[in-house]
Amino acid sequence: MTRAGWSCMVEPEILPVLRERRSVRSYDERHVLATSELASLLEAARWAPSAGNSQPWAFLVGRRDDAAHRSFVPLLAPSVRRWAPAASALVFALHQVGTGPEADALTYSDYAAYDLGQAVAQLCVQAGALGLSCHQFAAFDHDGMAELAGVPAHWSVTTGIAVGRGLLSELAPRERRPLSSIACGGRFGASLRL
Ligand SMILES: Cc1cc2nc3c(=O)[nH]c(=O)nc-3n(C[C@H](O)[C@H](O)[C@H](O)COP(=O)(O)O)c2cc1C
Repeated sequence: MTRAGWSCMVEPEILPVLRERRSVRSYDERHVLATSELASLLEAARWAPSAGNSQPWAFLVGRRDDAAHRSFVPLLAPSVRRWAPAASALVFALHQVGTGPEADALTYSDYAAYDLGQAVAQLCVQAGALGLSCHQFAAFDHDGMAELAGVPAHWSVTTGIAVGRGLLSELAPRERRPLSSIACGGRFGASLRL
């Protein structure tokens, strides 16, 4: 697998905020996430598209040194606990897994997990635009988090996101599958000329 992963003559252009995004494992512990920055991240998620405009997402937020953050940290898997607590915030992303009893019950859609992924992607891109780094993770006690935060049964705590000022220097090069292996013509596996 090549590092760049493209087969055309010129590396395709993408936005620097996408090219430069990395899941960092080291955060500046002096950085404090401003309320306005946190609001921008969540606002970016809020404007994501969703099936039938169902908006089947919710977010739990703890900022480093606050009570929510302190309660989240013991639920992280040891592998994540090594780096995530130093980030300025821990955000847990939830998606709906069924229709609930609320008066304003959201319409449940089979695409809720897909929609949450888009909302989190938008949050991460917004973070990049603000000079912040996100590292998403699944390695935490999902049931414990649901219990801790009083999450109703028709919601799932899906992923965590560490957000902060990343220290990029400690990152190893990463790999991607080549463009030719993910972009097909009219049939699955048929190569698309680019
Ligand atoms: C749904 C999801 C779950 C992930 N879970 C973990 C995790 O538990 N621990 C971890 O260190 N990284 C986790 N990651 C980060 C990926 O390992 C990372 O995105 C991948 O290696 C590509 O690196 P990059 O994001 O820097 O391009 C997760 C990412 C996603 C999207």
